[in-house]
Amino acid sequence: MQIVDPNIESYLGEIYGARHAVLKKMEAEALERNFPIVGPLVGKLLYELAKIVKARRIFEMGSGYGYSAFWWALAADGGEIHCTESSESNREKAEKYLGEAGLLHRVKYHVGDALEIIDKVEGKFDIVFIDIEKQGYPAALEKAFSRVAEGGLIVADNVLWSGKVTEKKGDASTEAIKEFNRRLFARKDFAASIVPIRDGVAVAYKM
Ligand SMILES: C[S@@+](CC[C@H](N)C(=O)[O-])C[C@H]1O[C@@H](n2cnc3c(N)ncnc32)[C@H](O)[C@@H]1O
Repeated sequence: MQIVDPNIESYLGEIYGARHAVLKKMEAEALERNFPIVGPLVGKLLYELAKIVKARRIFEMGSGYGYSAFWWALAADGGEIHCTESSESNREKAEKYLGEAGLLHRVKYHVGDALEIIDKVEGKFDIVFIDIEKQGYPAALEKAFSRVAEGGLIVADNVLWSGKVTEKKGDASTEAIKEFNRRLFARKDFAASIVPIRDGVAVAYKM
């Protein structure tokens, strides 16, 4: 199921206007490699969310080769973005792209399992962003709950999972995302919504 009508997606792409040349190169690489980046519509949303909460410390779970981190880094002037990625070659690519745009000084890449790395990076975060393999979503959410500062956000990509969340009994990834959504909306200390652009983005504000 395509969540957003393709005509609306193209319309949004047109009115959102120009973006950084390096982002365009990264998008071209995603197309070529068939790599699942958040894309420009969600990227712009991430940028605005970081601006709205004046984010200084961001923890990203599942960074790939740095496309979503690039949007965070653009927004968080003087900030610190902790990226986590299981592939060393993706880290190398990310550092090349971020360096080319003069943003690498805001980003620290950790290679390994995001669920373990978050326990090693001290302090609270203004934003925790979740975009790892989908069966890890419920565990990632539990980590995020305790690490987001008051007034901060949990943001997660793919929470509508191509519409498969509407299936009564889905595969393991679908059931993990459904569980993630149930747990998120059960929390009384977070105000949560799902923004149905691209594959669905959860945004939850820690009250
Ligand atoms: C959907 S991609 C991330 C895309 C990235 N957020 C972006 O939009 O540019 C998911 C990435 O998370 C990595 N990954 C999956 N599970 C992980 C985990 N438990 N810890 C760290 N990285 C993980 C994969 O190697 C992959 O590169």
